[in-house]
Amino acid sequence: MQRVLRIGLALCLLSGSAMAQRGAADFEAQKKNTQADYQQMLDQLKIAKLRPGVNGNDPKAHNAANYDETIANPHPTLPDPLVFKSGQPVTTSEQWLLRRKEIVEDFDREVYGRVPANTPTVKWEVTNTKEDTVGDIPTTIRKLVGHVDNSSYPAVTVDIQMTLALPTKTDRPCPVAMEFSFGAFPRRINTPAPIPPQEWQAECIQRGWGYATLVPTSVQADNGAGLKQGIIGLMNKGESRQPDDWGALRAWAWGASRALDYFETDALVDAKKVSIAGHSRYGKAALVTLAYDERFSTGYISSSGAAGAKLHRRNAGELVENVASSGEYHWMAGNYIKYAGPLKWSDLPVDSHELIALCAPRPVFISSGNAGDAWVDARGMFMAADAAGPVYKLLGKQGLNTSEFPAVETGLMDGEIAFRQHNGGHTPGPNWVMFLDFAGRYWGK
Ligand code: GCU
Repeated sequence: MQRVLRIGLALCLLSGSAMAQRGAADFEAQKKNTQADYQQMLDQLKIAKLRPGVNGNDPKAHNAANYDETIANPHPTLPDPLVFKSGQPVTTSEQWLLRRKEIVEDFDREVYGRVPANTPTVKWEVTNTKEDTVGDIPTTIRKLVGHVDNSSYPAVTVDIQMTLALPTKTDRPCPVAMEFSFGAFPRRINTPAPIPPQEWQAECIQRGWGYATLVPTSVQADNGAGLKQGIIGLMNKGESRQPDDWGALRAWAWGASRALDYFETDALVDAKKVSIAGHSRYGKAALVTLAYDERFSTGYISSSGAAGAKLHRRNAGELVENVASSGEYHWMAGNYIKYAGPLKWSDLPVDSHELIALCAPRPVFISSGNAGDAWVDARGMFMAADAAGPVYKLLGKQGLNTSEFPAVETGLMDGEIAFRQHNGGHTPGPNWVMFLDFAGRYWGK
């Protein structure tokens, strides 16, 4: 018996180390393929040299990130969202719709990349339905897979993973708070152990709403090596991206839009009251989702930082140069790399206040932490939120109503642009309830 156990253990260790070795090999291959893809994009752009990013981990490093406010604003003048490229001012909501198109075109071409015109249809399949309780309330939890039609290039398969939870007893279609979630399901192949619902999810159910989680990496991998696969690779038939092709942020946002398509077919969901939330890289994706897809009702944009709500023109925390590096360029259009050399940040035709303005007149909640979350540059996100205000005002809504940076835990919550820095670190947790209260103002109790 002992011997059998020992042999079993040895086999386990052996296969464990074999797995670790394979993991390391996969990681090396991914690094190599990312580097190759990055280099081909630099070649397409004819870029020989870039300015390096800053170091966010070591304040003593020679290239440490800046947190000194006196040198954080080298380019204080922002592009005006309410002036046409022709120089003509935008003074009516009809004119804003035209100006909005100009701004979208700039973000498409230079920042996030274009979504191809003919993206394929997605067929949603319910793979599992379970009766459960969440926050002590009977809840029906559906696992769904969105099969993307890959008949144009069968070598790439894309199956979008989503979970949708709704109160079991409800007399009306439910609003749904959807989040881009870190991690895929099932967590481990052989242990379909349920992930316990998080506090915000219980809050949703207790309010009579539903919640959904979407796995972004089931739409598009979170690395440059994966650009020839996922929805981007499917559309490019396994070839490299052009400089204005979409990056992962828009691909993830595309996935969220396909989830919303599904909600529109579900009589139990009030598809006019669906929000999108995300944290950090997925906070960027949530803002891109809300900005581009006007069907989303509101969004919880948590610690989105650089390439999210933070102004690209700021010298604080993470910089354009970091986002343009081989570790993050896949989030963006290839063209974005140009702004880390040869071009300057101030050469960008748009800045993130205009991305927030694309959400107008819909409510948006911009959030960050305090200690441990400096990398996202809360003040740079606040400044962008403030500068989006005039567009909201033009459309008869309220922005932040102050240009003064608020104290930690003092939420600016009265207008359609909300801003709050919680006292935690790099986490969405502490502001979730504030966001749900904010959304509730528009969704009703
Ligand atoms: C890095 C990156 C950020 C990103 C974050 C995350 O810190 O520089 O831009 O938001 O990872 O997603 O966790």
